[in-house]
Amino acid sequence: MYPVPLLTVYSASKAFVDFFSRGLQAEYKSKGIIIQSVLPFFVATKLSKIRRPTLDKPSPERYVAAELNTVGLQTQTNGYLPHAIMGWVTTALLPAKMLNSYVMGMNLSRRARYLKKQKQG
Ligand SMILES: NC(=O)c1ccc[n+]([C@@H]2O[C@H](COP(=O)([O-])OP(=O)(O)OC[C@H]3O[C@@H](n4cnc5c(N)ncnc54)[C@H](OP(=O)(O)O)[C@@H]3O)[C@@H](O)[C@H]2O)c1
Repeated sequence: MYPVPLLTVYSASKAFVDFFSRGLQAEYKSKGIIIQSVLPFFVATKLSKIRRPTLDKPSPERYVAAELNTVGLQTQTNGYLPHAIMGWVTTALLPAKMLNSYVMGMNLSRRARYLKKQKQG
């Protein structure tokens, strides 16, 4: 939905998959095939390293249960109401410049914490 500084390759690859899926959906719609682009925010999985699910960082079960209700209704979706609100705030309300510098700051401090931990270990 927007670039993530310091996770630039990751976010660019997600943008590719989003466009790819939406293009394929347009190509295959007339054949009755559903292709959906799913854009979650954080979900508590092995990959995200979030152990305790919360309202905005749900368990995979909770996220998928909500997401499946959107199949056939939305070609592109955040899949889960709190994530849809976060999507709306970050893309429609916040100016891109502000979002970029906020995410850059967040990832810079995340990187600093990681490097500090590496030094101590
Ligand atoms: N979790 C989030 O907050 C979040 C948010 C937005 C988007 N996503 C995206 O959602 C997708 C699924 O992530 P997840 O959070 O559900 O992570 P996950 O629970 O850790 O699942 C990742 C899956 O990918 C498999 N995998 C990892 N490396 C692989 C490789 N080199 N070859 C084949 N399989 C591999 C893992 O297999 P093993 O179990 O065998 O390791 C696991 O089944 C990812 O594309 C991620 O970028 C996640």
